[in-house]
Amino acid sequence: MSQFRIFALTAFACIALMGCSAKENTALTAAQEEAVAERIAPVGHVVKAGQVVAVASAGGAERSGSDIYGTNCMACHNSGIAGAPMYGDAGAWTTRLAKGIETVYTNAINGINAMPARGTCMDCSDDEVIAAIDYILDNSK
Ligand code: HEC
Repeated sequence: MSQFRIFALTAFACIALMGCSAKENTALTAAQEEAVAERIAPVGHVVKAGQVVAVASAGGAERSGSDIYGTNCMACHNSGIAGAPMYGDAGAWTTRLAKGIETVYTNAINGINAMPARGTCMDCSDDEVIAAIDYILDNSK
């Protein structure tokens, strides 16, 4: 007999003889339901009712300035590609800051000349771009 037939017969016998009632036999306790909800929740996003979660951007929890810098800005700002003011070069940043830090922030968010908008970090919030700039500035004094 094929596997399928055995399965079909077993299922039929089960339904016919004992009425494998979905409601009574498979009902989950509240604790089991919670355990299932935790298992099927997306990784890193187990949130229980009543928990408050801060969401900074599409990417989830806010990333640090150093994270953003390492991922998105370093390629140009570590080497000075296309005239990018270099990380650690106090003189270059003092010149930039002469126009006011708000303008520097805005230029990085919107892009300026060869500096792409958000330094190519398209899923960065404004605050994350600003955190990356602050990280550069803190290490370029
Ligand atoms: C593709 C290379 C590239 C990447 C990636 C890049 N930058 Fe730049 N950035 C530049 C260049 C080139 C300039 C100089 C633009 C100019 O003033 O002509 C610049 C300028 C800047 C300035 C100065 C703006 C001003 O007003 O003078 C800031 C701040 C800055 N970048 C921040 C960042 C941050 C933060 C990131 C990462 C999120 C980043 N950049 C990623 C190339 C890059």
